[in-house]
Amino acid sequence: MKGVILAGGLGTRMYPLTKITNKHLLPVYDLPMIYYPIQTLVNAGVTDIMVVTGGRNSGDFLRLLGNGSEFGLKHLNYAYQEGEGGIAAALELAEHWAAGDSLVVVLGDNLIEGNIIEAVTNFREQKEGAKILLKEVHDPHRFGVASLDGDKVTKIVEKPTDPETNLAVIGIYMFDERVWQIIGGLEPSKRGELEITDVNNWYIEDGSMTYEVLEGWWTDAGTFESLHRATNLVAEGGANKVEG
Ligand code: G1P
Repeated sequence: MKGVILAGGLGTRMYPLTKITNKHLLPVYDLPMIYYPIQTLVNAGVTDIMVVTGGRNSGDFLRLLGNGSEFGLKHLNYAYQEGEGGIAAALELAEHWAAGDSLVVVLGDNLIEGNIIEAVTNFREQKEGAKILLKEVHDPHRFGVASLDGDKVTKIVEKPTDPETNLAVIGIYMFDERVWQIIGGLEPSKRGELEITDVNNWYIEDGSMTYEVLEGWWTDAGTFESLHRATNLVAEGGANKVEG
């Protein structure tokens, strides 16, 4: 199983901070943001990792992370994203490397308190399809929002104005090797992006999507408010961070 961390984008919601660096290099308490999603994967036993990044500061990732020895890794893979195009478009850059295997995708600005190893283990046992992780939030309109019917996800709506539930789809996704075919068939959304939510809805229609509700806190860190929140959560309670 491969792990892909998406750390590209222009980070326009965080100007002027991101005019001079990549969002995922900004500090969350005492570590650069990108450390947290890497640790999330390593803690879940996923050690074959690719970081997809872009922009003028992409060289800083190499300087900062090198071969990942701080995380106990021997090697890290990198892909360079030219321009923008949405989460699914960024993910496509990992196709040549990850094709034929299942994968866990983590958005570079998503932090969790706990460990997703159980969800990853359950997904490994799932023969095909995808798995998403959900978390109850008070501001679902900011996220992809899932509707459920018992143990099935019936649909995901991206940033709904009138959310049906308060279950946000967090930025950690597990896909089988069909994901590349699905991305290849996507059309850009109204905001001109290839949406990860469209990939997830494909699996829902296929009947092969499972979900789990995440335990412990989760936050994104892609706005000033959420970065502040992430920093406080890490400072107060720690995250799944590097020991020592
Ligand atoms: C993205 C996804 C959204 C998801 C969120 C989690 O939104 O499109 O479905 O809930 O990440 O952080 P973005 O933050 O890129 O707008």
